Amino acid sequence: MHRPIYLDNHATTPVDKRVVDAMIPYFTEHFGNPSSINHQYGWEAEAAVKKTRDTLAKAINASPEEIIFTSGATEANNLAIKGVAEAYFQKGQHIITLATEHNAVLDPCKYLETLGFEITILPVQKDGLINLDELEKAIRPETILVSIMAANNEIGVIQPLAEIGKICRAHDIIFHTDAAQAIGKIPLDVQISQIDLMSLTAHKIYGPKGIGALYVRRRNPRVKLAAQQHGGGHERGMRSGTLYTPQIVGFGKAVEIALAELEQENRRLTQLRNKLWERLSKIKGIHLNGHPTQRLAGNLNISIERVDGAALLLGLQSIMAVSSGSACSSTTTAPSHVLTALGHSEKLAYASIRFGIGRFNTAEEIDTVAQQVILTVQSLQRM
Ligand SMILES: Cc1ncc(COP(=O)(O)O)c(C=O)c1O
Repeated sequence: MHRPIYLDNHATTPVDKRVVDAMIPYFTEHFGNPSSINHQYGWEAEAAVKKTRDTLAKAINASPEEIIFTSGATEANNLAIKGVAEAYFQKGQHIITLATEHNAVLDPCKYLETLGFEITILPVQKDGLINLDELEKAIRPETILVSIMAANNEIGVIQPLAEIGKICRAHDIIFHTDAAQAIGKIPLDVQISQIDLMSLTAHKIYGPKGIGALYVRRRNPRVKLAAQQHGGGHERGMRSGTLYTPQIVGFGKAVEIALAELEQENRRLTQLRNKLWERLSKIKGIHLNGHPTQRLAGNLNISIERVDGAALLLGLQSIMAVSSGSACSSTTTAPSHVLTALGHSEKLAYASIRFGIGRFNTAEEIDTVAQQVILTVQSLQRM
């Protein structure tokens, strides 16, 4: 059966077969509970969990004890934001975030607003980058947390983490970053960038769904977090619940592969992305959304004037799987909040496509996609 070309790798990715192979024994053979300290089954599972903890810590230059496993980046963001709010509310009740954040950051902030916290949502510049002067100006004595994403899930824009970290540290404010789209795709270093909390997920880098992690700084400064899920006291009491060993093994393997192949893969993806843009840029009224170079290698986000976005996607549906706006909120028909934050009119924001090129895409696929988009747009423009 013919299936459309998959170009929605920011929504999720297929699990790499090498990752599946690493996971399988942990469903059947090494099925123990990592918390069972009295027998070999538990020790085997615990050793596997430790291996991933070490891999993740190394990937971001942290210590293994600073990695807290969660069900994904949504949970990690909730734990970071609500956990800090609850632990530090006596110090202050003001949080700063960015207009282009994922809803998994914006919605916990909105929830905290109902509890009396004040949230400043900073606008972005036309290219999607944060304005560092605006960040400085927004800081108040009662600011306890700044939450700014590492890489955007729609326009791929990479924020200047080290500069943000420097500002936060100078003002003694906790810096959280949602790195769901960044881990395994760009180098991350919590020491260089002075990051205190970092959300991670496996399923954007060819790992399984349903597993993620939160990095929680333990030294200089030690970050306090109020648990949002209580129970057996797992993960140093910050996140109770039996650890999901096969998923954790898959997460570790996915990160290991992504880091080993990072430079070479980024070069390949950049070439494919540039080739796609080179072809599409000939379309009349086309715009590139987000910073032209400070973005994820596999990301291309475009808007086309005077073309109905829904009609365009419908016309392309059988050929390629892409998203308009964010797939994570694609059940809504509202225009993407990320594109409207760039200053686009609602109409232009509607006619947008997010291409997420990934590990299993080929140059031939990109040729087909470019050709089909051009043909479909031409026929819609004629209409
Ligand atoms: C930037 C960003 N944050 C958070 C999430 C949510 O991650 P998860 O699906 O692991 O909960 C996603 C993906 O949907 C994302 O792209």
